[in-house]
Amino acid sequence: TRVLLLNGPNLGRLGVREPEVYGHLTLADLVEAGERWGAELGLDVEVRQTDDESEMVGWLHEAVDTRSDVVLNPAAFTHYSYALRDAAAQVTDVGLRLVEVHISNPYAREAFRHLSVVGPVATGTIAGFGFDSYRLALQALAG
Ligand code: DQA
Repeated sequence: TRVLLLNGPNLGRLGVREPEVYGHLTLADLVEAGERWGAELGLDVEVRQTDDESEMVGWLHEAVDTRSDVVLNPAAFTHYSYALRDAAAQVTDVGLRLVEVHISNPYAREAFRHLSVVGPVATGTIAGFGFDSYRLALQALAG
């Protein structure tokens, strides 16, 4: 199974950005871990990150066109991007799976993080387990 593991804005700053919330591991560590977990689970995982909404929408279209499941950390887009939501809906509409992932637990944080506009069109959501949130999402796709 092909899996696109997509990360939204500011996640390129992992390790530097609010380590008390997001930990000390970097995006490079996530790339390595994602590929390793994928190999262990028999998934062909490709890890990407962008700060650009348009690029992220394009990657979701690519997932539809290449029949790839998706692990998506939409980062701040989670809370307001209807464009991302509509693109994510196309993934699950064609029967592919999309797991929404968060490193932190948005429900334990500021009120503006309590709403996910992506959640209702995701297959499921995993949040609050640090980098393990991604591993759990890949396990869900492999299971
Ligand atoms: C996040 C949570 C979001 O609220 C935030 O904007 C992020 C990261 C997480 O992984 O915990 O950038 O998606």
